[in-house]
Parts: sequence; C-alpha cells; structure tokens
Amino acid sequence: MISIALLPGDGVGPEVLEGPIELARQLAASGAVELTGPWPVGASAFGATGEGLPAETLAACEVADAILLGAVGEHPGVPLSAYRPEQALLALRAHFDLRVSVRQVWRGDSPPMTVVRNLLGGAYATSGRVESDGTGAASDLLELDPARIRELTEIAIDHAKASDVPLLSVDKANLLATSRLWRTVVSEVAEEHGVPVRHVYVDRMAFEIAASGPPAAVVLTEGLFGDVLSDLACGRVGSIALCGSASVRPSDPTDPRRCVGLFEPVHGSAPLRAGQGVVNPVGGYLALAALLEWFPETAKWADVVRGALSEALVDGPLTYDMAPPGTTPASTAELAARINQAASERIQ
Ligand code: IPM
Ligand code: MG
Repeated sequence: MISIALLPGDGVGPEVLEGPIELARQLAASGAVELTGPWPVGASAFGATGEGLPAETLAACEVADAILLGAVGEHPGVPLSAYRPEQALLALRAHFDLRVSVRQVWRGDSPPMTVVRNLLGGAYATSGRVESDGTGAASDLLELDPARIRELTEIAIDHAKASDVPLLSVDKANLLATSRLWRTVVSEVAEEHGVPVRHVYVDRMAFEIAASGPPAAVVLTEGLFGDVLSDLACGRVGSIALCGSASVRPSDPTDPRRCVGLFEPVHGSAPLRAGQGVVNPVGGYLALAALLEWFPETAKWADVVRGALSEALVDGPLTYDMAPPGTTPASTAELAARINQAASERIQ
C-alpha cells in the first residue's frame, strides 16, 4: 500500500486537488493507497502558523511514500514581502533529495511531451548565489557534473523506451561550457544504450514548440530550460492545467528516506482566481496519475486516471480555459465530477 501525504497548499491548490483526492479516496477504499492530511504548506501555512513548512507537515511527509501537492505560491492575504512561498517547495525538494523533475504535457490520446530536467544543482543549486541589495552585482552559479548528467540521461532513456518516442537533448552548447559537457555526456550514455539522440539548442526547441506544438518525445534538459519549455508547451496545448509534475529521487536501496516523490500540477496558486471554483482541475489529476505510475503497486491505476481524463476532455463540459467560445464553461467541481464518474466506471 502506498501512503500519500496530501498538501493542498495555497490559492487554488485546495480547489484543484478536491476532485483528485475524492478519486484517491476511492482507490484507498480498494486498498491501493492510504491518504494522510491535509497538511498545511506554503504562504497559507505561513499566514496561519508563521511557518511555510511547519514541522508537523514535514513529519507527515517523512512517513509517507509520496506527497500530492496542490500549489505553493501567492495566497490571498499573505503578501510576498512577508514570505516567499517557493521556499517551502525548494525545501521539500532538498529535504528528500528530489533531484529529478519529470513533467508530462498532455497531448490527448497521443504520447505526451515528457520533460526530464535537473532540479537540485545546476541553475537550482543554492550554493554560489550572490544576492544584491540593489546597488552591487548579483550572481548565480551554474555548475553541472558528469555524474548528474549521466543519471538524468539514463532516466530520460527509460522514459523514451517505455513510450517508444524519440529522445531530444536540449542545451545551449553554442554559449555555455555546462551545455558542452552536457552534450558530451548525453551522447556517450545514449550510445552506450544504443538510443539515437537529437541535440537541439534551447532557442530552437522553443521555436519548434511554439510553431508546431509539443512533440511526442522525451526532452532531456537542464533545470531552468525545462522550467521554461514546459510552461511554453502547456501554452501551446491550450492550458497551463494540462501538465503534471513529478519531483523524484531515483531509486537507491541504501537511502533510508521513505518519501521518494512530490507530485503537483505544473501551474501555480493563481491567487486572483482562488475561491471562485472556476479553475481547471486537470493538473491535479495528471499529478495523481504521475504519482500512481511511479510505484509498481499502483501503476495500473494511472491508466484509469488518464483514460477518464481522455473521455472527459473529449466530452466536456470544460472549464473557462478550454471551453469553446460561445459555450458555458464548467466549474472546477463539474469537470472533476465528470472525470471521477468516468474513473469510477473504469475502477469497477
Ligand atoms: C516550477 C516552478 C518552480 C521551479 C519555482 C517556483 C522554483 O516554476 O515548479 O515549475 O522553477 O521549479
Ligand atoms: Mg515553472
């Protein structure tokens, strides 16, 4: 049984997770998963308790196999000057060494665009950052070592093989030394595995996604490039809600930590829409599907969630971000109910 700590978080996070949690409760009834929480996190937690990542939340995550998170970000009534909410997310990633990000941009029934990127180290490393008070220079250090690039490449190759899609490696080797190392190591590992790889500059990749839509491929890249490209791809498929995000620690039997992943929609807390019940819940479902897929014991349920999504997104009704012009948009709860109904039929 997989134990999941529920962290709805800030802004629209709780609304977006409501439907997926209801579905997860159905799976819990079948004995597949156990749920704990909701546990406070982010700006809302800071507003309520003075801490963005309260000790009880961290303790609950430590005894879970995975975290299902709604959003951390701006929250009504908690100014950014009081607390930067992404601190909680970065702290969770660091605490559990969730160093690899795997994101899947939904492309209907076709294979998704999967982005595999570096999450700790590289542009996301905390060392080497120099803040400025506004008068002097600031700087950020981008450092990559071959072992990390090798690990990421192996994970990307696994994904490419599993869904039988090409591997694209994205970098800026015409500018950055880290990208030139990236290219060398990715080429080496791909050759060892007998897998063809196409190397693409990040600006060219952005153009291709904007012009033709996200490819059915695994896009292997540095953290910052992947952060930007995944949002761009969502924009092209029609909604920021169409992407689930997994921050994971690759399996290591010698690591005593239990929690191996944090799963969330790619979008943020959308504070201006919070509390209205209008946002698209699909990102929460994609996060749940990614979570279920991560564990062999629950992997089959991921197809149930994705199958239900395919059905609901074809039939509608759709939320405001996807509803065809001239039609009445569905509320968050209406779309979630439609998805859950399609899922229930598949569970029985
Ligand atoms: C994301 C976010 C985070 C990231 C921020 C909040 C640090 O943009 O998950 O895409 O860049 O990883
Ligand atoms: Mg982002």
